[in-house]
Amino acid sequence: MRCASRSDELVFFVNGRKVMERNVDPEGTLLTFLRKNWTLLSKSWLLRLTGTKYACGRGGCGACTVMVSKHDPVSRKIRHFSVTACLMPICSLYGAAVTTVEGVGSIKTRLHPVQERIAKSHGTQCGFCTPGMVMSMYTLLRNHPQPSEEQLTEALGGNLCRCTGYRPILESGRTFCMESNSCQQKGTGKCCLDWGENDSSPLGKKNEICTKLFAKEEFQSLDPTQELIFPPELLRMAENPEKRTLTFYGERVTWISPGTLKDLLELKVKHPEAPLVVGNTSLGPAMKSQRQFHPVLLSPARISELSMVTKTSDGLTIGAGCSLAQMQDILAERIAELPEEKTQTYQALLKHLRSLAGQQIRNMASLGGHVISRHCCSDLNPVLAVSNATLNLISAEGTRQIPLNEHFLAGLASADLKPEEILESVHIPHSQKWEFVSAFRQAQCQQNALPHVNAGMRVLLKEGTDSIEDLSIAYGGVGAATISAHRSCQQLLGRRWNELMLDEACRLLLDEVSLPGSAPGGRVEFKRTLVVSFLFKFYLEVLQELKKLVKLFSVAVGALDSRHRSEVSDQFLSALEDFPVTIPQGVQTYQNVDPHQPLQDPVGRPIMHLSALKHATGEAMFCDDIPVVDKELFMALVTSSRAHAKIISIDVSKALELPEVVDVITAEDIPGTNGAEGDKLLAVEEVTCVGQIICAVVAETDVQAKRATEKIEITYEDLEPVIFTIKDAIKHNSFLCPEKKLEQGNVEEAFEKVDQIIEGEVHVGGQEHFYMETQRVLVIPKTEDKELDIYVSTQDPAHVQKTVSSTLNIPINRITCHVKRVGGGFGGKVGKPAVFGAIAAVGAIKTGHPIRLVLDREDDMLITGGRHPLFGKYKVGFTNNGRIKALDIECYINGGCTLDDSELVTEFLILKLENAYKIRNLRFRGRACMTNLPSNTAFRGFGFPQGALVTESCITAVAAKCGLPPEKIREKNMYKTVDKTIYKQAFNPETLIRCWNECLDKSSFHSRRMQVEEFNKKNYWKKKGIAIIPMKFSVGFAATSYHQAAALVHIYTDGSVLVTHGGNELGQGIHTKMLQVASRELKIPMSCIHISETSTATVPNTIATAASVGADVNGRAVQNACQILLKRLEPIIKKHPEGTWENWIEAAFEQRISLSATGYFRGYKAFMDWEKGVGDPFPYYVYGAACSEVEIDCLTGAHKKIRTDIIMDACCSLNPAIDIGQIEGSFIQGMGLYTTEELKYSPEGILYSRSPDEYKIPTITDVPEEFNVSLLPSSQTPLTIYSSKGLGESGMFLGSSVFFAIADAVATVRRERDIAEDFMVQSPATPERVRMACADRFTKMIPRDDPETFKPWSIPIA
Ligand SMILES: Cc1cc2nc3c(=O)[nH]c(=O)nc-3n(C[C@H](O)[C@H](O)[C@H](O)COP(=O)(O)OP(=O)(O)OC[C@H]3O[C@@H](n4cnc5c(N)ncnc54)[C@H](O)[C@@H]3O)c2cc1C
Ligand code: FES
Ligand code: FES
Repeated sequence: MRCASRSDELVFFVNGRKVMERNVDPEGTLLTFLRKNWTLLSKSWLLRLTGTKYACGRGGCGACTVMVSKHDPVSRKIRHFSVTACLMPICSLYGAAVTTVEGVGSIKTRLHPVQERIAKSHGTQCGFCTPGMVMSMYTLLRNHPQPSEEQLTEALGGNLCRCTGYRPILESGRTFCMESNSCQQKGTGKCCLDWGENDSSPLGKKNEICTKLFAKEEFQSLDPTQELIFPPELLRMAENPEKRTLTFYGERVTWISPGTLKDLLELKVKHPEAPLVVGNTSLGPAMKSQRQFHPVLLSPARISELSMVTKTSDGLTIGAGCSLAQMQDILAERIAELPEEKTQTYQALLKHLRSLAGQQIRNMASLGGHVISRHCCSDLNPVLAVSNATLNLISAEGTRQIPLNEHFLAGLASADLKPEEILESVHIPHSQKWEFVSAFRQAQCQQNALPHVNAGMRVLLKEGTDSIEDLSIAYGGVGAATISAHRSCQQLLGRRWNELMLDEACRLLLDEVSLPGSAPGGRVEFKRTLVVSFLFKFYLEVLQELKKLVKLFSVAVGALDSRHRSEVSDQFLSALEDFPVTIPQGVQTYQNVDPHQPLQDPVGRPIMHLSALKHATGEAMFCDDIPVVDKELFMALVTSSRAHAKIISIDVSKALELPEVVDVITAEDIPGTNGAEGDKLLAVEEVTCVGQIICAVVAETDVQAKRATEKIEITYEDLEPVIFTIKDAIKHNSFLCPEKKLEQGNVEEAFEKVDQIIEGEVHVGGQEHFYMETQRVLVIPKTEDKELDIYVSTQDPAHVQKTVSSTLNIPINRITCHVKRVGGGFGGKVGKPAVFGAIAAVGAIKTGHPIRLVLDREDDMLITGGRHPLFGKYKVGFTNNGRIKALDIECYINGGCTLDDSELVTEFLILKLENAYKIRNLRFRGRACMTNLPSNTAFRGFGFPQGALVTESCITAVAAKCGLPPEKIREKNMYKTVDKTIYKQAFNPETLIRCWNECLDKSSFHSRRMQVEEFNKKNYWKKKGIAIIPMKFSVGFAATSYHQAAALVHIYTDGSVLVTHGGNELGQGIHTKMLQVASRELKIPMSCIHISETSTATVPNTIATAASVGADVNGRAVQNACQILLKRLEPIIKKHPEGTWENWIEAAFEQRISLSATGYFRGYKAFMDWEKGVGDPFPYYVYGAACSEVEIDCLTGAHKKIRTDIIMDACCSLNPAIDIGQIEGSFIQGMGLYTTEELKYSPEGILYSRSPDEYKIPTITDVPEEFNVSLLPSSQTPLTIYSSKGLGESGMFLGSSVFFAIADAVATVRRERDIAEDFMVQSPATPERVRMACADRFTKMIPRDDPETFKPWSIPIA
């Protein structure tokens, strides 16, 4: 039982206010405390600070970033550092000051420049990541009011954003940096703002073109004197530290924080099993996901001895309590002070520290925690191990030293700490002359990703020679712990540092560091290859260093004369450099509005997102920010652990015995319909995938509800067949719907007449939506008439409403769904929210209480499915000059266990497969496979990003076969004149051609292609690739009824206007655009108009906000309503043209003119006849082209995005800032799909990748170094509102230009090495795939396993 009376008082400050808490739960984190704490702290102040967001709960996304300030006892200075509140134990905050986004500034009081700038630079879309971004930047500015761009990138490296593509966020941060950024149009030799009189910009005439999306000069300046000061009370506390042990008792856990080292050591004797919690970045995630439990936690936070740093003549001793960020500073300082030869180890450690996690984690994690955790992927332990670091241990008995060697790392009891010992410090010796130390790592992406493999390597050469005196090599990621290659190193002693030694070393290492085919983490062959590739890099590095030494000591070192010494040829030097972390630059170009357009009219102007300032201050309310409602209960879901099984029994008794548990909801509790046949809301009798929802626990707290789910016992009987892969589904004829097919010309006949035929396969992996706000819903039952209010994060509230109605068997009119804003959807919140809404509604009806259901990231990723993985087979016939005469593509998508949107996705896939190409003889077939995986669903682009990759891969294959560059084949086969698509829809490709030509021109494609070739000739281990991709993207749904939209506009008697429409604000700025429309139509400023929310009570029967047409169709409805109102007002306006808007409204009211109108848009005509294969399925097309250039590291598979140029046909953009934001964001999301986002499934169908640790969406350092986006000057489409186009999805596919640039680089490698160029195309192009495709002597030397002899860790499902 919690014992508040015995607990000490936890004292800390939040936003300048004192918190004194006796009843604190040591298991709680700062995040829950901030968001959920209802304690009245002073008469008027409640600590309900919901600006800090929950998105992953594991320190991996930065959404919960806050600043912590502490007095550092060693430096006697105040240290401000960013932390992830979700991992910060609340008890660790004793004596600290916390600043949250609310404490930085607010709309009500004063905006902080950071908040103002991120908003006005268009750095927010859905806004869910924004408070975290603000806090990371704010903390940086507290420490460095004028940071460098490098510091800015470092500060934001731990913050994920799924919407913006980061560029505008960096842009806002850059306004604080000291570097000048006058011009970003690199490479052209000309400033983008300085077009000469006679210059014609490729995009149009001078004054029509704009490159400015915000007015930097209007920003308020940063005044560091205005910041909150460190509370004097805490300063006094720190200067006279309390030596008493503080204890906080929780229900299950006790937190003990001793004030002296002596007390800590005594406590360690008393509680030998108790861990020391320092950063909690290792313990926290383990307690959460591996369900580790520790009844006693010891906190050494107040023990200054653990933070001591001692510089000695032979090395550096760093206190175990120092954070990794502090360690970075200490090492940097030492490197600057000492001669280079002494700092080899420090440099290697610093290199790894820069890419280890994000800034927040480095601020929290301690050196001691890192070393003691002995994580198998630890970045520091391999380097510390090879450099002979020692651990200084201390206990009540005294002190002793142990080496940080392979025995310690393997956890051998004889080489480990005793239970009562703690680590006091780590001693890292200096390196010496003729000693070389290096560190290597390869992760899925450059920053904020755990490494697949890493290594520390050290060699000591006999003075003046190249003979090995001592050698140490250690690897991480290739076993359960860091592995030392001790045996191999011993055998190499005395050998000379040359090629012969290298060959022998590789052989020995591969033998010693052996990795079984079934090794956890998979990627076995890649890891084996890295083991030797890293060694090769080290080998070259040392040779280079020797070359320098020879120059220095040329007379003395006889044994090193050039006759005997190995040299690094210039071509090989490229193996040595790591890709630098760079801050992206770029230009965004759009067409200015007509100079005659009235100033009041906002259409076409880069207006800031309506909620941007609220996003930046944390005042924007998301679903789970709604205050607790009276008698509210929490729900947690119980899901299947089997892929295909009969449910024999469900025993809920143990769950119900837990305190605070109220009920368990099963299918039997559903009063109405339990979903559809084959797609139940709650499983009955049978489960068909791991992650299928079986029942739900309702409890008084979310923690208890979650704990109770683990007590529910379900017995299963496994059923056959179990199908996960597309291959197996085909074998079992397991499909969700009939085949979809389109055909034109005579494919068979055409194949007979062509010069050449190629057949190939393409595999495209799935994609997780990774919206930052997980699925969440709050259902509030009302007391009368079975009414329900539902607050839900959805793209389709009407669908939630309908589903709840049928589930509860009550009419739709009793249910009102409210959507204020959604923290990202991308298609993932079209169908699934209805499931969660309905289950929560059953709970609400059964218990009579409001129910809150917030999915944690793991459950969200497990349950909800995502983009369909695809397997494509193609057969293409062409002439020798690259003209494609026949193309036959067969696509299979992995739909998972229920139909969901799979049939529609298949249809869209087939309809869009031709992309930009006119091929006379075509056959496209598509099928959705039924497998025992969670059902896949809608995702931005809806099949097009996967399908078009097959088409473009065909083109690349044809190009390779014809010996022509792919862009030539693309050009040759592209639509050129007015024509009809495969489904006989007429269209004019003029804009497509313009986009293509502009892109070629703007990107200087042809000259850069030559530069790439030049580079590739000179560099063997690094290769560049460049690709340009055209796009014809069809917008909308293939059915007229799906394009209808409605709006409701009220004018109130004070003249203010309330607009409601059927679209949902997902971050895409739909509300902003709707106000722009209303403002133009009513001819009043946007500030007079307001949108409160989307609600099924105001605009009924809405269509999902999806398919890029949200603003189009709702805009037409808003326009219609406004025009109706204006028409009614016209007589009054005519009579009093000199009057004001308010006068007219007043008069209208007096004259009993209705000031409320509904607007309606009947929808674009669209249909598709699949029987005949003809139709007019899409209202219009968006055209675009993108050119990307990359550089790959052939030894590691890593790549760097050098430059991307996008040209997009936005027609007359309603809001260029928002539209460019959509293009950039979707491009980066597409880039993630094609390069780093990889879902891994176990052979039992369990999704492994269920957190940002395992699933890597792009981070800030993944943005191309130069990133230019241009909107093509307007063409007209009379069909849409003000001739604008919907741009929500189209940018996604342009991300494939990065994929094809990588493929281009790989093809160059293979050509050079005389390996077949037509390797199998697999997306994403992960470092693993790139490395293995760049076959070389190292890939040849690794052992290969017979697939029949082991069970792999993961299975490919595409
Ligand atoms: C999002 C995220 C990303 C990460 N990325 C990387 C990465 O890229 N590379 C990498 O190498 N690591 C990475 N890590 C791991 C991180 O480096 C470690 O979790 C961290 O260093 C552990 O330190 P801590 O202070 O938080 O340990 P805690 O979690 O507080 O403690 C961990 C263990 O150490 C013990 N301990 C702590 N101090 C002492 C002491 N003085 N004496 C005895 N025992 C002690 C504790 O008892 C406990 O068992 C990542 C972690 C997270 C959460
Ligand atoms: S929620 Fe804390 S880092 Fe993701
Ligand atoms: S704005 Fe960054 S996640 Fe949506």
